[in-house]
Amino acid sequence: MTAVADSRPVGIIGGTGLTSLSDLTIVGEENASNRWGEASSTLVHGVLGEQKVIFLARHGNPHRIPPHEVNYRANIQALYDAGVRTLVGVNAVGGIHRDMGPAHVVIPDQLIDYTWGRASTFFEGELEQVTHIDFTWPYDNEGRELLIGSATKAGVPFSGFGVYGATQGPRLETAAEIRRMERDGCDIVGMTGMPEAVLAAELGMRYVSLGLVVNWAAGKSDHIITMAEIEEAIEQGMSGVKQILERSMAGLGRLSYLPQPA
Ligand code: HPA
Repeated sequence: MTAVADSRPVGIIGGTGLTSLSDLTIVGEENASNRWGEASSTLVHGVLGEQKVIFLARHGNPHRIPPHEVNYRANIQALYDAGVRTLVGVNAVGGIHRDMGPAHVVIPDQLIDYTWGRASTFFEGELEQVTHIDFTWPYDNEGRELLIGSATKAGVPFSGFGVYGATQGPRLETAAEIRRMERDGCDIVGMTGMPEAVLAAELGMRYVSLGLVVNWAAGKSDHIITMAEIEEAIEQGMSGVKQILERSMAGLGRLSYLPQPA
């Protein structure tokens, strides 16, 4: 029997290629709905690396909800209500930067939001005051450092910095869109990083992202993007992602809680 620190659970939102965590010792499961609607999947309570964890499958389990139809508010609220204050979002991404090819792991430090029409704030409707949260640093730095340390120890090829460009999907981008994103400074491109990151910030959670590159972004290779190459990169890279998660959990669980934003 392993000792489990009596701390708050760390949240993990699994994306494409990570609808369940095989290394998680499951201790319970609950349906989750709240005033924003129903979460994408059940909340799976478990233990990973001796740390209490709550896992949620962003696209449902089995994978059925496309990125633009994920109820990000219901998901983040459900994890918050279950006690999560530190959250890791696992994201499949396309690689734009030349060093970030398939199966590479990226721990981004910045993002640019190109999504549109998504419910992307908790602060709307009948409010007593208007709230503008600070979002200068969208990813929690202490959390990032822990992921970076774990990736180094695990020997997984990774980049500890990167700008995540969040696109609307579900289609992939044109080559010109990727060239524009590159000029903007984006290193990776994905469809789920926003509004997840900002909603977590609005509730005062620490949020970090673990991006697994599953294809070269449009126009960055000599071929079009195929599901076969994406599946191959997931197969190749997801065990590294899981190792980083397992090694980071205890440290993430020990991080202090951020004060609730005003
Ligand atoms: N673009 C957007 N989202 C993605 C990609 C991509 O190339 N690969 C995986 N998610």
